[in-house]
Amino acid sequence: MKEDITNPTHSFKDRAASVAISKALEFKLNAVGCASTGNLAAATAAHASRAGLPCYIFAPVGVEREKLSHALSYGARIVLVEGTYDEANWIASRFAEEHNVGIVNVNIRPYYVEGSKTLAFEICEQLGWRSPDHIIIPMASGALLNAIDKGLNELKTLGLIDGDVRISGVQPEGCSPIVSAYREGREYIKPVRDINTIAVSLAIGNPGDGVYALRTIHRTRGTAVSVTDQEILGAVRDLARLEGLFIEPGGAVTIAGLRKMVEERLIEKDEEIVCLLTGSGLKTPHIIQHYVPQPFIIKPSIGELKKMLEVEKLA
Ligand SMILES: Cc1ncc(COP(=O)(O)O)c(C=O)c1O
Repeated sequence: MKEDITNPTHSFKDRAASVAISKALEFKLNAVGCASTGNLAAATAAHASRAGLPCYIFAPVGVEREKLSHALSYGARIVLVEGTYDEANWIASRFAEEHNVGIVNVNIRPYYVEGSKTLAFEICEQLGWRSPDHIIIPMASGALLNAIDKGLNELKTLGLIDGDVRISGVQPEGCSPIVSAYREGREYIKPVRDINTIAVSLAIGNPGDGVYALRTIHRTRGTAVSVTDQEILGAVRDLARLEGLFIEPGGAVTIAGLRKMVEERLIEKDEEIVCLLTGSGLKTPHIIQHYVPQPFIIKPSIGELKKMLEVEKLA
């Protein structure tokens, strides 16, 4: 597992925002911003505050409140769009066109990708400068999957790694336009309008890089699977209980996806696989209510403590 939750705002999006906003400074843009499913909002806002630039975030109203508070804390202005992520993204694009503003995932997106690809560099570096057999990646717009591919290809060109890496993607069943295209053998993406998933950070119905992600998966002989909310919650719980890692649903999909790939015999027994864990569970604290027992509430007395221990069968 490659966990990427210890960046300044606790998701891999810091990599993307950091490079994009450095370029915005170089281009002397007046302000920066983004359209976001949650994580990019905090990352853009934090790096904008460090750069001393005003920041405008466009998000669909359904985004988790914790993530919005996180972005607000850095001083960003947030525009909540009554619609989907795709509609928020469209408004953000119009805003960028009419003002001298760098929207990190729109008009300065190439630099955003340059930041994301460093995850591929780090995976190979941490393996002692070699590549794994297979990398499993959460997909929303599909940009991260392509950025990993770009990073690996650059290392290969430089002669720092050799060998082919299978690249696979996972989406939540309630929003899986890229996986559906893969499974149905289509070369184009049919946008999903009725989105329903607890992995809110992956809720992009019309993924901008979807077609390219499809091509990358095919070219690298990877695969694509979708996972149910129950399977995602199972992965969140297992990561916490078996590994001590608290990961948000959008990041934990890769573990649920790995399980599915094993069941469907889509991977070889001896493959060395890296699953990306891309966001911290602290960003979606409400999720745990689905799988943890309520805390005990007792009075400060030995009698009450004993009663509790009896319930727990520890007495
Ligand atoms: C935690 C997390 N993982 C993965 C992704 C996927 O990113 P992409 O849109 O590049 O496919 C996102 C997107 O917001 C995310 O928030």
